[in-house]
Amino acid sequence: MQPRLLCAFLVLASLVRAQAPAPAAANMDAGRKLFQAHCISCHGPNGEGARGPTLAQANLPRASTDAALTRIIRSGIQGTEMPAHRLQPHEMTALTGFVRSLGQLAPEKVPGDPVKGAELYRTKGACAQCHTLRGQGNMIGPDLTEIGRKRSAAFLRRALSEPNAEVPQSFNAYRAEVNMPLNFLFVRAKSKDGREVAGVRINEDTFSIQLRDLTGKLHSFFKNELTELHKDWGQSPMPVYAAVFSAEEMTDVVAFLASLRGVESR
Ligand code: HEC
Ligand code: HEC
Repeated sequence: MQPRLLCAFLVLASLVRAQAPAPAAANMDAGRKLFQAHCISCHGPNGEGARGPTLAQANLPRASTDAALTRIIRSGIQGTEMPAHRLQPHEMTALTGFVRSLGQLAPEKVPGDPVKGAELYRTKGACAQCHTLRGQGNMIGPDLTEIGRKRSAAFLRRALSEPNAEVPQSFNAYRAEVNMPLNFLFVRAKSKDGREVAGVRINEDTFSIQLRDLTGKLHSFFKNELTELHKDWGQSPMPVYAAVFSAEEMTDVVAFLASLRGVESR
């Protein structure tokens, strides 16, 4: 391009841009407000992630297109904590635009060595005593096969160092779908014949309760057989791993968990 032509082009381009920002910026602002109202409790103020995964990455694995992103926001992700949201079409446009803008932030690098973390998971951590990973292990706690795409690294670290901090209290919405103890309510029962059992509640109705103890064994009681039944709402049987792992080991285990992205993950 001729220098003068280029110059004219740049002037023109800057004029166009000077006029355009108003609606775009307003839209971005509306998107940010919607994000703050509906999303930050789980995805963090800057989409860095928490109970939900980080959205501040260029490629969202399940929302690679705007259509997929819209669908996820509108319908949620079945069987997970990602809820459905009712939004007006113009709100949806503003929100998806804002979510995409988060993707331009540099993604958080998870420090640590996932290979060492995997070793600690098997050995010192004895995590399989309570967790399933790709079909291996017990079911006292949640399946961890895809935990890296459900939670942020910071959330995973907190789950290990303060297991009681984020125990989900009401999982009714999706307990119906999966026959796993997704609410992880820890129960202690004492029967009239002197048996004492502690474990995770699997099922309960008016007359009976079933639980799984820490060895994986199932127990069923009629409530009229019990002298005591304690429900430890908001408490986790998971050990406080801040006391088990060194700081470096903790970082490696978090790196390993963050790398768990499902069976088909590359
Ligand atoms: C109650 C918590 C919660 C709220 C509120 C929430 N999310 Fe989520 N979101 C999650 C969780 C948890 C997942 C991961 C689900 C899974 O795979 O188990 C998720 C997943 C997603 C994904 C998929 C990311 C990927 O892996 O590709 C997108 C996109 C998303 N959320 C966007 C949003 C937006 C936008 C909002 C606000 C309108 C929002 N979420 C509100 C918990 C939440
Ligand atoms: C004695 C049983 C037990 C052991 C051992 C155990 N956990 Fe847990 N874990 C649980 C239970 C129950 C929950 C669900 C309640 C809660 O959030 O603490 C849980 C929750 C978690 C969560 C949060 C999951 C989510 O969806 O938010 C992670 C991550 C986790 N455990 C990882 C580990 C790792 C890694 C180890 C080994 C270093 C381990 N756990 C050892 C019982 C255990």
